[in-house]
Amino acid sequence: MRKVTLKNIYQHPITQKYVRRSGMAHAISVANHAFHLAKTYGVNPDLAAKAGFLHDIGHYNWYRNGEWDYQLYKNCDIHPIKGAERAHKLLVRLGEDKQAAKEIAHAVLFHTESALPEGNFQLSPLQKVVHLADEKDKQPGDLHHYRNIDPKDELRLIEKLDTKIDQHEDSEIIV
Ligand SMILES: [Fe+2]
Repeated sequence: MRKVTLKNIYQHPITQKYVRRSGMAHAISVANHAFHLAKTYGVNPDLAAKAGFLHDIGHYNWYRNGEWDYQLYKNCDIHPIKGAERAHKLLVRLGEDKQAAKEIAHAVLFHTESALPEGNFQLSPLQKVVHLADEKDKQPGDLHHYRNIDPKDELRLIEKLDTKIDQHEDSEIIV
């Protein structure tokens, strides 16, 4: 039995503030991709969906004179680091298993190249799944961050994914 559901995470004010900033539709979509990729890579679908959902929670708005400054963002952004810490704090606050919170935080930290050291860095299967799930949802011109859906549909999709995760967990239980 999971201690924390996606719905618990979705409804928290921290999620509403920070995940919405970088795109709720994108976050839900990446959570779904991560859930499906988890099966292929043999990782825990619950952790994959949560890390996918929270992967961009560290984003900050890099505006200069009312316009998004891509160069400033590229030079100064630390969203994977901020996101890892923010996701970890939120999950622990919600009562998530501490080991799971750590794994999810690491997957958030390594979801994009910007926080990776140079050279042959080996991602764990969970980190790889979250990276690939994010790549799958990316749109030209970073449009994925600006896609919107009706909040009622957001909740419906979150609940649907929670059900799929629960069904997967039930099927894993040996009787
Ligand atoms: Fe993303």
